[in-house]
Amino acid sequence: MRILGIESSCDETAAAVVDDGHLVRSSVVASQMSTHGKYGGVVPELASREHLRAIVPVVREALEQSGSKLEDLAAIGATVGPGLVGSLLVGLTYAKSLCFARGIPLIGVNHIEGHIHSVILEARRSGTALDFPALALVVSGGHTHLFRMDEELHYSLLGKTRDDAAGEAFDKVAKLLGFGYPGGPVIDLLAPFGNPEAVRFTLAKMKGNTLDFSFSGLKTAVLRWVEQRDMQSEIAARQIMLRNRSAGAGPPTAAEWLALTPQRTLDLLASFQNAVIQELLKRAMAAAEDADARALIISGGVACNSGLRAAPRSARLPFPVYFPSPALSTDNAAMIAAAAFPKFARREFAGFDIKAQANLTLA
Ligand code: KG4
Ligand code: ZN
Repeated sequence: MRILGIESSCDETAAAVVDDGHLVRSSVVASQMSTHGKYGGVVPELASREHLRAIVPVVREALEQSGSKLEDLAAIGATVGPGLVGSLLVGLTYAKSLCFARGIPLIGVNHIEGHIHSVILEARRSGTALDFPALALVVSGGHTHLFRMDEELHYSLLGKTRDDAAGEAFDKVAKLLGFGYPGGPVIDLLAPFGNPEAVRFTLAKMKGNTLDFSFSGLKTAVLRWVEQRDMQSEIAARQIMLRNRSAGAGPPTAAEWLALTPQRTLDLLASFQNAVIQELLKRAMAAAEDADARALIISGGVACNSGLRAAPRSARLPFPVYFPSPALSTDNAAMIAAAAFPKFARREFAGFDIKAQANLTLA
């Protein structure tokens, strides 16, 4: 059962060919990082333009790498939402036109459900049966959602962020300190050089649903900390280093950053990352206890974070915690094809009138 997945909800144009929901024959991701990096975040108009440029070659490459032709496909799964509407439209419209022209069934996939399926894909591949009820924590640049899953494709929302997403907090703090975009990878890289206990941040107290998350207070606390110190020249030095970097040079190495970053800033980064991890795990653990969970899935771009990956290992939890491998944690289309697979079995096909939905919810 060969499915082509297409993903274009934010700033990655991706296509992948996946057999039986777990054998990844190809997974191509065209990142727009270099386009958006200098603006410190994703610029929606530029994102749509880049998707338009990339979609045809990316899909062609995914088919070629997997040795497939369109007639080999059982279905095409495409992200319908949530995301930037102009970006979603590019991938979804291209998927629709391929399906229409070749008589291939179309399957609409929720991007968040895709992130959860990056873990399910790898579990299927290794022959691991996920036990239910499971909790799924999806943490990315756009989302921080905690779901309970009683079976595959059955989700109930337990909590979500009331303000910034976890990845957005990483991105905003990195931008404020002159570390560029995206912020998660650079903070992850530098946090081990700082003391995570150096700056004490208080975790958000939630009125109402205590399984909701909040990161804006933490972001403001970092801003206050920076304002109370004379940091302008070190921030400017990092911004200049980024600006003068040639286009193909790739992100700066730890040594390059360390040369421009004093210890107190490294301590701040480590403490900030630690506070985000504590905020995420505190709510996930409380939910796991309430639900008598038998597994915890953590996925989305922030699931790449080494501190977050290490934390459950040292906590000796009574259930397994699953992270996707890093390449499947950030946006990709293999997870979209994997989420389309069980929908194919249920014959949940989309009509050609299906619309891109910026605010699509999962539960
Ligand atoms: O899942 P993703 O690629 O796109 C969205 O659906 O948003 O996630 C991107 C987010 C960005 O905010 C980025 O800073 C964050 O994931 N991220 C990380 C790491 N790698 C990416 N955050 C923390 N640590 C990382 N290693
Ligand atoms: Zn994502």
